[in-house]
Amino acid sequence: MSLALTYHEATKYAPETIGGHPGIDWEAQPSAFKEYEGGSAIDLSRFLPFDPNPFTGEPAEADAHLPAKGRSLAALARLIYAAYGVTGLLRGSRPTFLRSAPSAGGLYPAELYLVVRDWPGVPPGLYGYHPRLHALIPLWEGVEVADHLGTACYGDAEVAAAPLALVITGVFERSRWRYRERAYRRICLDTGHLLGNALLAAHDLGLRAHLTTAFHDDAVDALLRLDQDQEGALAVVALDLPGEARRPRWMTLPSGTGSADAAPLLDTLHAASRLPAQRPRPAPHGDGQEADLHLRHGWSAAVALQPGPTPLAEEVLHTIAGRRSTRAFVPDAITAEALGRILAAGVGHPAAGLGPAPALASGYLRTFVVIHSVMGIEPGVYYLAPHGLELRRVRAEVPREATQELCLGQELGGAAAAVVVHTADLEAAVRHGGDRIYRLLHLDAGLIGERLDLSALAEGLGASGIGGFYDDRTTDLIGIPRSHAVLYLTTIGVPG
Ligand SMILES: Cc1cc2nc3c(=O)[nH]c(=O)nc-3n(C[C@H](O)[C@H](O)[C@H](O)COP(=O)(O)O)c2cc1C
Repeated sequence: MSLALTYHEATKYAPETIGGHPGIDWEAQPSAFKEYEGGSAIDLSRFLPFDPNPFTGEPAEADAHLPAKGRSLAALARLIYAAYGVTGLLRGSRPTFLRSAPSAGGLYPAELYLVVRDWPGVPPGLYGYHPRLHALIPLWEGVEVADHLGTACYGDAEVAAAPLALVITGVFERSRWRYRERAYRRICLDTGHLLGNALLAAHDLGLRAHLTTAFHDDAVDALLRLDQDQEGALAVVALDLPGEARRPRWMTLPSGTGSADAAPLLDTLHAASRLPAQRPRPAPHGDGQEADLHLRHGWSAAVALQPGPTPLAEEVLHTIAGRRSTRAFVPDAITAEALGRILAAGVGHPAAGLGPAPALASGYLRTFVVIHSVMGIEPGVYYLAPHGLELRRVRAEVPREATQELCLGQELGGAAAAVVVHTADLEAAVRHGGDRIYRLLHLDAGLIGERLDLSALAEGLGASGIGGFYDDRTTDLIGIPRSHAVLYLTTIGVPG
């Protein structure tokens, strides 16, 4: 059995074992921030188009009104803010700075670094992002940082030539402190949400973004001077002006598979899913795996949704800046039209108007929608065939209590009008992608989750991700084998 399979099995939540969590030691919570010396920081806050400026409390300066498109410092300021900026504050004995991307438990395990080759206002080099100042902290000067990143990405031409690249890492302990071994799932989901924001903002700001996880991990980690026991690179986003994409470029490459029987599984899984110095051969795409579902269920009903343009496309930055996870739903119905636009935005249907939504674990993600209350659609569990945006029923009506129960009893699950469930045939995925596919599946699910959340908000509806669910109850409800991984749930409905 591969490490990804062992890890997934070992980190399942089940009603019989959920009470065995040793509890949370609030005193031991790690900080959600790196401590950077702020000396020669590059201030980005003055470019934010908000009045007053959320960081200074002062009226917006002239820079805030600069047109922000393309390769400019103003565009960069908005893109970084949209990706992972501080957008709220929960006061209390230990204040929590809420961010543009949601995070399981509000723990914010991701860190953002910038590798700059040629960008106005930012000399070439390596920078850390300081969220509480909305500033860039110089860590290493010189254009050779960008050269090294290109080499670490196996000479990916898009990364090598990019005027600027983002590198997103996970700081494991921030999430593990609370979620123990299961934290790796949430670290990757959180990072996927951040990536979702970054790619949406890039498109909105007139930039071309190339997302890749095809890199030699040790080289990227060394470039960022990470302590590999604590932190690891998870994704790279190369940014450039629109135009023809350069080749060769890769998004996804397979790793080997490891094995382990004992804790700590999180570290061993991350290590086993690293890529070597020598570029692996690309893995084949998954086949969508619809045929066996059809054999299992037949399609008792199919509903073609209308993939219209999402209102999110008109107001990306402001929707992200105002985003909050919905904390309660009323059990009212939503319309099939709104659901169609939200799902189209989620899966990156061209009609949504949001630009491309890359899929890292291409072809291995399978999405189901539990419909409780959507006008014109019979309640039940549906498989979402993404290309035609068609819902194919695999199960008749599901009681709201059953959905709530599998969400660890969280009312969000029962009161939602619809719950989107991402799954994968993990054995098939690992056969082609090695243990690394486990990261990629969760990054994909988080990225789609962010697009679902934001497009639901833009419709005047509410949404929240759910990372706490009983795994086997969920596969049982859908009617797929327990060996298939449930990756993530997104609840959508009418906010209460
Ligand atoms: C991966 C992931 C899993 C989450 N799981 C849950 C969950 O199980 N239940 C819940 O109520 N909220 C969940 N949330 C929402 C977070 O609690 C929320 O993002 C966090 O409190 C920050 O608040 P904000 O999203 O409003 O900024 C999840 C968010 C993410 C990204």
